[in-house]
Amino acid sequence: MPEKIRIENLQGSNIDDLIYVCSAKRLDDTIHQQGVKLKRQWLREMLKNCGSVAKIAYFNDRPVAQILFFPEEVDATKAFRRENVLVIQCIYNPNPEAQKLGIGTRLLQGLIQDAKNRKTCLGNKRCKFLLTKAFNTGEFLPLPEFFTKNSFTSTSEGNLLYLPIDGQYEPMPSVGNYEPLAEDRDKAIIFYGPVCQFGYPFAKKIEELVLEVEPNIKIEMINDWEKPEESIKRKNWWLIVNAKPIQTFFMETEKFKAEIRQAVSQNY
Ligand SMILES: CC(C)(COP(=O)(O)OP(=O)(O)OC[C@H]1O[C@@H](n2cnc3c(N)ncnc32)[C@H](O)[C@@H]1OP(=O)(O)O)[C@@H](O)C(=O)NCCC(=O)NCCS
Repeated sequence: MPEKIRIENLQGSNIDDLIYVCSAKRLDDTIHQQGVKLKRQWLREMLKNCGSVAKIAYFNDRPVAQILFFPEEVDATKAFRRENVLVIQCIYNPNPEAQKLGIGTRLLQGLIQDAKNRKTCLGNKRCKFLLTKAFNTGEFLPLPEFFTKNSFTSTSEGNLLYLPIDGQYEPMPSVGNYEPLAEDRDKAIIFYGPVCQFGYPFAKKIEELVLEVEPNIKIEMINDWEKPEESIKRKNWWLIVNAKPIQTFFMETEKFKAEIRQAVSQNY
């Protein structure tokens, strides 16, 4: 039988298929389940407020890949938001048997076509450009290569790439750097979000590592979509320890812990 690929727009009835694409191996993990719960709630809100914010690819009727996107103007965690801009949060095809068959390209090109036809979650408004943070997870084809293959170009801001649709690129004003706040001393503030179901489990891992270094430190875990003002006040930084923004990625465990140790021992 020929292999069958089909693409569906996200709707209430296929939310769990979207989640399955990224979480298939972690559905029994209780901390991951918390991340999934937050993501499900967020997707329901987005469906209600904006419409379909994802596409799911099925290979022989099994959900194998997804692309997730939303209007930048609904992202309350940002101090500045551009109108008529679609942010692509991520695209992912983690199933080797379904890779290199054109599925990723079909998901992205489907979104581009919808944007040209004014049929996205922007409503019937024009889409000026698509924007994405092309990070490299080290898995499969890296996002920068994939988006470049699909005609996205670099902006002057970090690893952001864009594709003009019905307008020109507009740079974002700088939010500036975190300045130490008196209220942030002697505690760790860990931010996470509902958009990726790995956000909450990663935040819990960060909490564990911080407590290994400083068992008595007060921890505040903040969902940045619930309390965006707390994140904006701290320039969207993901971890502040004793009023110091931590730079080292938490997966570089020893270096990360050394930076935490230094942060708690100094006055900022
Ligand atoms: C990028 C990605 C979605 C592509 O999925 P896909 O369904 O295999 O994509 P396609 O079949 O449409 O392939 C697109 C092109 O990339 C090439 N390609 C795909 N996987 C590749 C790989 N591992 N190495 C080299 N080239 C690859 C294809 O051959 C094709 O090339 P062509 O356009 O010159 O013919 C997938 O590789 C992926 O998920 N990468 C990781 C992305 C990631 O980190 N996401 C964030 C998760 S949080």
